[in-house]
Amino acid sequence: MRTTVGIIGGGPAGLLLARLLHRAGIDSVVLESRDRAYAEGRQRAGVLEQGTVDVLRACGAGERMGRQGLVHHGIELRFDRRAHRVDLSSLTGGRTVMIYAQTEVVKDLIALQLADGGPLFFEARALSVEGADTERPVVRFLRGGREQTLECDYVVGCDGFHGIARNAVPEAVRRTYERGYPYSWLGVLADVPPSCEELTYAHSARGFALHSMRSPTVSRLYLQVPTGEDVAAWPDERIWDELDARLAVDGPWRLERGPITAKSVLPMRSWVIEPMRHGRLLLAGDAAHIVPPAGAKGLNLAVGDVVVLARALAALKETGSTAALDAYSTTCLRRVWRAEHFSYLMTTTLHTEPGQSPFATRLQLAQLDRIASSTAAATELAQNYAGLPFG
Ligand code: FAD
Ligand code: DHB
Repeated sequence: MRTTVGIIGGGPAGLLLARLLHRAGIDSVVLESRDRAYAEGRQRAGVLEQGTVDVLRACGAGERMGRQGLVHHGIELRFDRRAHRVDLSSLTGGRTVMIYAQTEVVKDLIALQLADGGPLFFEARALSVEGADTERPVVRFLRGGREQTLECDYVVGCDGFHGIARNAVPEAVRRTYERGYPYSWLGVLADVPPSCEELTYAHSARGFALHSMRSPTVSRLYLQVPTGEDVAAWPDERIWDELDARLAVDGPWRLERGPITAKSVLPMRSWVIEPMRHGRLLLAGDAAHIVPPAGAKGLNLAVGDVVVLARALAALKETGSTAALDAYSTTCLRRVWRAEHFSYLMTTTLHTEPGQSPFATRLQLAQLDRIASSTAAATELAQNYAGLPFG
């Protein structure tokens, strides 16, 4: 089999890239190792930056999002039993975020691709990328029990953190940067109307909590838990009691409880590989970088990468110039490191480390109080949260 751009991975990065290339008249083949139901059901991110929303709309994937997504103009920070609203819109010249689950973005992109895009193969697992530094890179993959090859002009590794694409970047030319965190998130979905109007991030001595939502009738909630925690240690009552305690503020607020329909533990890390390109192999999304989720940046960074890449491949097709493609890694990494820093700051300001000193807690509260009382500090948070330009 032969194509112009071979895309490994049918997550948000791979699917959106295929869509953007299709619209630019560039053919591609997407290889996704999982089946369609699995790819569509994986519970992950929920917050789309304005720039992500604009791209999805521009490529025809905005219709259901426009009907079912929830536009938010601000977020809430809770600490010291106080609530403080950060008005994203007024601090960013009118930018907003959209609550629309990654599962739904993926469903919409899959439907579009199958309706009028290039081939998207499920249960097609890439095994290796060969000849990344030649004119004709090849992806070897397994489909229907048979090993096959996909010859490409370019290969894009959109295969997430556990993917295989980056193995084709020789150790001598790649560098990775990593930081771990001594905690994870327990994420739950509950059939209960959200108790907060906006996304609410809570600092507490008992650990971090986040109140998010999926719709007017479904809440999405997260609790900081020790790394390696077993979900079995968290029966529903314990989850609600802990959320109640961590989200508590002085005043009349009340947490509504309801049936919990899904629970999982999410590990947390910061991780970047450089460069994001080797020869004719390009890496995008989680295959190239991971952020801890408190900044809601993972999915949005993946979108930024493929927007830059699709533009570069379109420029190559139109003008024959590889200048934008040559700048791909540098262009993306600038935004990636900004998001790494923001995600790190949100994470370390809001979570409580095991054995954390009272001094460290005071520093966190001073930082949160600064955001609550200074327009300059709140603006810095708002601009990063609502999203910076794709570059
Ligand atoms: P992925 O979504 O990981 O997609 C990669 C795709 O490649 C997958 O479909 C995978 O099946 C496929 N694949 C892998 N290997 C192969 C192979 N060899 N051959 C073919 N296909 C392959 N971000 C937030 O902002 N908020 C959150 O709450 C949040 N929660 C998360 C929870 C979890 C468990 C994880 C893993 C991530 C979470 N993220 C969150 C991050 C966000 O979901 C990711 O940044 C986003 O999914 C990145 O998209 P992607 O397409 O780059 O990678
Ligand atoms: C959600 C996830 C995040 O990581 C975040 O920072 C905010 C909201 C969510 O899943 O809704």
